[in-house]
Amino acid sequence: MIEQLVRPNILSLKPYSSARDEYQGEASVFLDANENSFGSPLPQTFNRYPDPLQLELKNKISAIKGLPAQNIFLGNGSDEAIDVLFRIFCEPQQDNVIICPPTYGMYEVSANINNISIKSIPLLPSFDLDVEAILEAQDAHSKLLFLCSPNNPTGNSLHLEDMELLIQKFNGVVVIDEAYINYAKQQSCIRWLTEYDNLVVLQTFSKAWGLAALRLGIAFSNELIIGWMNKVKPPYNINAATQQFALDALENIAWVNDNIRQTIALRNILVEQLKSITNVEHIYPSDANFVLVKISGAKAVYDFLVSKGIIVRDRSRVTLCDDCLRITVGTEKENELLIENLYTYLVMHNS
Ligand SMILES: Cc1ncc(COP(=O)(O)O)c(C=O)c1O
Repeated sequence: MIEQLVRPNILSLKPYSSARDEYQGEASVFLDANENSFGSPLPQTFNRYPDPLQLELKNKISAIKGLPAQNIFLGNGSDEAIDVLFRIFCEPQQDNVIICPPTYGMYEVSANINNISIKSIPLLPSFDLDVEAILEAQDAHSKLLFLCSPNNPTGNSLHLEDMELLIQKFNGVVVIDEAYINYAKQQSCIRWLTEYDNLVVLQTFSKAWGLAALRLGIAFSNELIIGWMNKVKPPYNINAATQQFALDALENIAWVNDNIRQTIALRNILVEQLKSITNVEHIYPSDANFVLVKISGAKAVYDFLVSKGIIVRDRSRVTLCDDCLRITVGTEKENELLIENLYTYLVMHNS
């Protein structure tokens, strides 16, 4: 029973009821929310609070994903969904979560903010899940297991069989973060939601949709979990501009699909070019819009690139990522500049 995993204070929580929650009809005079009735200095209409449950946007996402709107939560980035899950399931100083480093850093930060201890079960050297060790590590207080597929920073998709086995055997809620799923060959795990009640799948508008600045993340789960997420979130967590821009973007899926193809093609070219740089020791296969590259003297290469105004992500001090840089696929021009500068670095250090 999934209720047994929820903090008692959340089960009994009476959520904030906003003016917009209490009246949702077709009235013409709104004097209920202490908004500015006169407008704003901007030409757009922003003087009214936005829909707290973002129904128009959810209905549109629902039509695209083939999942009812009641199974969708929208957050101020997936980062908000992650934090909300901690607050629903994890009792501070009592519960724990399992993460599999190297992975996305916010799981650990959110755990620390919420005073929840972490059990770290590193990925295997192949960057696959150590399923046995994860299951051995879980105890009665293990509430969340974070799996990131494709994984950041390694770029690989996790095996579907491993993830499904963990959903079946883990006693808490499994959160599968699919921020990069649009670039992957592998299918989304969303289809498992009808089968398992302890699953949350995260996706985001920040990557393939190109809308990182709008801060819009999605959690897909069963109605119970989505209900608790809505109860715990701040009342108006998705602002009106974000809702409007996202609705507009959803009209142009063709742009997104085209951009995904282009990004993957440029990633493949980038990988080929990186192979010709002699201090590159390994390029890990990627299912995402970035590549993890093992390069000798990674920190010095990183510093050199910074001095040329090119910023990549130094992951060289991260578990299993010795001497690794994570490089986002840029435009054709940006990738060329990167490669040119990697050559310059080589020439300077070999002479
Ligand atoms: C795996 C993963 N999940 C989530 C996020 C954050 O997504 P959002 O911008 O929706 O908060 C990132 C950002 O880089 C990420 O790499």
